[in-house]
Amino acid sequence: MCGIVGYTGTRVAGPVLIEGLKKLEYRGYDSAGLAFHENGQLIITKAAGSVADLEKLLDDKHKTFKAGVGHTRWATHGPPTDLNAHPHSSASGEIVVVHNGIIENHRALRKRLSEEAGIEFRSETDSEVLAHLIEYYFDGDLLTTVRRAMSEVEGSYALVVAGSKQPDLLVCARQASPLIIGIGEGENFVASDIPALLTHTRKTCIMDDGEFASITPEKVELFDKEGLPVEKEIFEITWDQEAAEKGGYDHFMLKEIMEQPDAVRETLRQRVDLEAGKVDLTELEFSAQELSKTERIFIIACGTAYHAGLIGKMAIESIAGIPVEVDVASEFRYRDPLLNPNQLAIVISQSGETADTLAGLRMARSKGLKVLAITNVVGSSVSREADQVLYTWAGPEIAVASTKAYVTQLIALYLVATYLGQIRGTVEPRQSLELVEGLLALPGQLKQVLSEESRTLIKNYCEHLVNWDNAFFIGRNLDYPVAMEGALKLKEISYIHAEACAAGELKHGPLALIEKGLPVVALATQEAVLDKTMSNVQVVNARGGAVFAITREDFDDVSRQVEAVFYLPAIIDILTPVLSVVPTQLIAYYTAVARGCSVDKPRNLAKSVTVE
Ligand code: AGP
Repeated sequence: MCGIVGYTGTRVAGPVLIEGLKKLEYRGYDSAGLAFHENGQLIITKAAGSVADLEKLLDDKHKTFKAGVGHTRWATHGPPTDLNAHPHSSASGEIVVVHNGIIENHRALRKRLSEEAGIEFRSETDSEVLAHLIEYYFDGDLLTTVRRAMSEVEGSYALVVAGSKQPDLLVCARQASPLIIGIGEGENFVASDIPALLTHTRKTCIMDDGEFASITPEKVELFDKEGLPVEKEIFEITWDQEAAEKGGYDHFMLKEIMEQPDAVRETLRQRVDLEAGKVDLTELEFSAQELSKTERIFIIACGTAYHAGLIGKMAIESIAGIPVEVDVASEFRYRDPLLNPNQLAIVISQSGETADTLAGLRMARSKGLKVLAITNVVGSSVSREADQVLYTWAGPEIAVASTKAYVTQLIALYLVATYLGQIRGTVEPRQSLELVEGLLALPGQLKQVLSEESRTLIKNYCEHLVNWDNAFFIGRNLDYPVAMEGALKLKEISYIHAEACAAGELKHGPLALIEKGLPVVALATQEAVLDKTMSNVQVVNARGGAVFAITREDFDDVSRQVEAVFYLPAIIDILTPVLSVVPTQLIAYYTAVARGCSVDKPRNLAKSVTVE
């Protein structure tokens, strides 16, 4: 997500902040900015583009100030523009904020501040509201004012505030978004990530949710929501710069796999209402009438996003009762699909820049279809050209192999399916509640699936897999697209040839390849077809194949029939792909590591495929 750096001390702040922002560049961003004190005023310099571009905008006077805040933005609310870049300031310019996270009630706060204080907002961001809210309550004490203001804010935030009246003070607040204080000698730092601090200090104190901090060159003080002082442990960071960028993990891919619970939580945020037992996608400005008359849906995507689309098809057909076709974008654009304006196209693209997907989008629009984009990048080409966009809030994905973006694409598709079902009256209130409860349980269940014990189990299994050049992934129904995704991931990063096969299709040819010890990953999570899948497993067993099953803890009989088993928490059939893909990601990851492959940047592949 976005990056934050703050400094207060005796050094010239500019170079310290610029250097800190550069250390956060690996996370991905689209604009950057800084704010410094000058003659009792806070001066902001910010622009869309790189930190190097920002550096060029700083003139010499900017380089004389001793405290300031900096930010790299990865757009969420509003595209990457100069105005939407951080820092944001209050109307008088006396309060400046940099913020990471999402302010859920920003619309209500905006409305109130415009009506009660006549505030005119300059940007489209949710963050700007914080600067105005703090000014609205400002009573001369920045720390107590920030505490008061933040008590009205819902959502996630790592926030650093500077006020023109106290040039060496930074006030910080944290809720569900990381903020770390770096402790120096006669100077102190704050950052959203450890890499931004490491060249200056290894002594850190990590803020917890609901805490506030007051930072001056001499002192760091922390407080709880009530304003009571909090004693914090000081940690000595031993990571080197590279390990720090990966959050202490060996690879971005593993870091991103481990971030999936949070990514799912963020993507669900404000879109599900547990009390009402409903999904709320009114953010999409399609009329209910338009959606209820949709005759057919075309899902267009590539690679991993295509696999998400296959699951989306099953979810939409079963929940909303609309026929869905799923196309690999490079095929869609060169076939002759029967398109008409009563249909809806859904394009799925993590990057939002994939050339084939974009061409599919354009073709659908040219035939009069409305287009809904599911993407992870605000301001991407896909998001700009689609009629409506449903963002996945996975944060930047750096490893070429898509993991957290994929899982959030599934979440977006379940939301769309349930929302369409509600509008069309095909989903009973009881089923809608069951889906909402199931979706909200996923972050906790993902954590379980990612436990150290689970990872060790998979790592041990990979010791067998690593010696083979071929492997099969099999499954039926919703397990089949997950098998496809598992096979793709293994190929992509470990260079083992992996084939996904609908379990019932084995006997029609691929069975000829099964030999003693050949690794076969069997996905067996669907109650409705469990017996069928297990009889296909028996057929593999009979030919000597070594079956590793991914199943659910309520299917406890599976372990007797296979060599090794991975149990997922009990969950309703339709949502299992969100959990069952995780062991396949880990299989690919640990096998690639064991084979000494370049995990984050596999050979011949690129993160964003902008050519045909
Ligand atoms: C996934 O691991 C791959 N790197 C690849 O299949 C990817 O999903 C595909 O290129 C589509 O990318 P997009 O989501 O950015 O459009």
